[in-house]
Amino acid sequence: MRKFKSLSLSVFSAAFLLSCGGGGDKTVESSNQSETADSSPSDYDPQRGIGKWDETNVDVSSFDAAMAAEGKKISDTKCTSCHKMTDERLVGPGWKGVTERHKPFWIMNFITEPDPMIDVDPKLQEQLELCLVRMPNQNLTDNEARAVLEFMRENDGAQ
Ligand code: HEC
Repeated sequence: MRKFKSLSLSVFSAAFLLSCGGGGDKTVESSNQSETADSSPSDYDPQRGIGKWDETNVDVSSFDAAMAAEGKKISDTKCTSCHKMTDERLVGPGWKGVTERHKPFWIMNFITEPDPMIDVDPKLQEQLELCLVRMPNQNLTDNEARAVLEFMRENDGAQ
């Protein structure tokens, strides 16, 4: 059963790898623009995203190694089939530098509930156009999401 699961997953990733491999492929770029214009509410804050997390409830003032280790475990089961730790794209973008590209609360909002943000966030829309796949909701609890964020911070050099 396990074997079957990982086999079908690698076939899945391989298929997307092919579609994402080129980097210079611009053919999908123009097709999406009219749709996005309708769906983005003018009050969307791209720094914050959509959700309950903001600068008041995500504290990244110190690094917690135990939490990062927990986050690595969670990532290994729920995320690394699509994300590498480097800056290289797999199905989704590589995680190197992700904590510099996005605020910690943006990441918390996105990884606990990706769907509403994928619909309106300009950067997520760009990524969607590149890979033509939406990140699925991985049903992370608040604590799991926070641990994964700590692991991303460690990967970006927090200590
Ligand atoms: C089935 C593949 C898949 C899985 C599994 C997955 N993601 Fe993603 N992820 C994506 C894709 C594709 C994107 C690009 C946005 C989009 O198209 O939805 C993305 C984007 C992201 C981004 C934004 C990256 C950036 O540089 O802007 C973060 C953060 C992220 N994912 C975190 C996670 C976490 C945390 C998990 C595990 C809990 C996870 N992802 C699991 C496919 C996946």
